[in-house]
Amino acid sequence: MRVAVVYNCRPSTPAAPGDDRYAEWDERGTIDAVSSALARAHEVVEIEADADIVESLKRERPDIVFNIAEGINSQNRESQVPIICEMLGIPYTGSDGFTLAACLNKARAKEILSYHGVPTPAFRVVTDSNGPLAPLAPPLIVKPLWEGSSMGVGDDSVARRPRDVPAKVRRVRARYRQPALVEEYLEGREFTAALIGNGPGLRVLPLVEIDFGTLPAGANRIYSFEAKWVWDRPEAPLRIFTCPAPVDPALRREIEEVCRRAFTVLGCRDWCRIDVRLDGEGRPHVIELNPLPGILPDPDQNSCFPKAARAAGMGYAELVREVLRIACDRNGIAEGRLKEAALGTGGGK
Ligand SMILES: Nc1ncnc2c1ncn2[C@@H]1O[C@H](COP(=O)(O)OP(=O)(O)OP(=O)(O)O)[C@@H](O)[C@H]1O
Ligand SMILES: [Mg+2]
Repeated sequence: MRVAVVYNCRPSTPAAPGDDRYAEWDERGTIDAVSSALARAHEVVEIEADADIVESLKRERPDIVFNIAEGINSQNRESQVPIICEMLGIPYTGSDGFTLAACLNKARAKEILSYHGVPTPAFRVVTDSNGPLAPLAPPLIVKPLWEGSSMGVGDDSVARRPRDVPAKVRRVRARYRQPALVEEYLEGREFTAALIGNGPGLRVLPLVEIDFGTLPAGANRIYSFEAKWVWDRPEAPLRIFTCPAPVDPALRREIEEVCRRAFTVLGCRDWCRIDVRLDGEGRPHVIELNPLPGILPDPDQNSCFPKAARAAGMGYAELVREVLRIACDRNGIAEGRLKEAALGTGGGK
């Protein structure tokens, strides 16, 4: 089978120190790792998700796209590749354009979750830094409305007093040119769940707990930009994940159930990573969904989805091929073609 890995690649050096513009885009090493995992069983082409993508897809004519592209420019950027694939009639892995856009805009995702009774912290979308915050109760956290990879979520994003909120809203507005999401801050434990599959075949891989005890003394107990990208480096990794998370079976089932419902009501497909935090009563709430989950290949780079897969006995390459298999099943692409290719009789590499 001919598989196109469609990606956006992060420039190797940031334009300026602290420039987080491309934080969500994949490093060359991740794109190569995905391609080589697939190349063991398929013919693989790599296509950059730039302004020439329509011509590239028409030229390469893949049977399916393995989509890891974060897209360009707008709050709908993650939808670009899925929508173009639909226009060209090419199947692709993962969620569709609507789900990707709804999950990137955290307020839209939370509205859908709330409608379906899936717990998520109370919130307001704020454009006027002096606007009302009621009925939200402090502490609060202030985040950009449609970013990921902890862009704009710094150690100082937590507001213990309402009067600390306006400056944080102004900073989000000035730096990211978008509304701020002001949300009730949950003090409890944090987990992330990797979900894989569809319908009755949907599986929750072993939960990952974020262990804030590994952060520098005095840091807020959040998985901030500093925690992801500054304090945690491949040469000095923070041991910030515990997987499988040490949770009693009842709590594990409750977290899994909340995540399955979140996956389903947002219309996610094939895979998704869901961040969860416990409230003061120990009840799980969905913080956000990542239907295009990060998959850094190096175990020392602290990437949750591959970590959860490893705990389930699935190596990196197996995980990538399993996502492709699930997407093929969903699209009714014959397993036979996959098996033939895997055996080297289908013309694949
Ligand atoms: N309401 C909240 N209560 C407590 N902590 C929160 C809340 N919202 C966010 N956080 C903390 O901030 C971190 C980053 O927030 P969030 O997951 O919304 O950002 P993100 O940039 O989309 O993350 P990702 O890197 O997973 O894409 C969370 O992992 C959590 O530690
Ligand atoms: Mg997150």
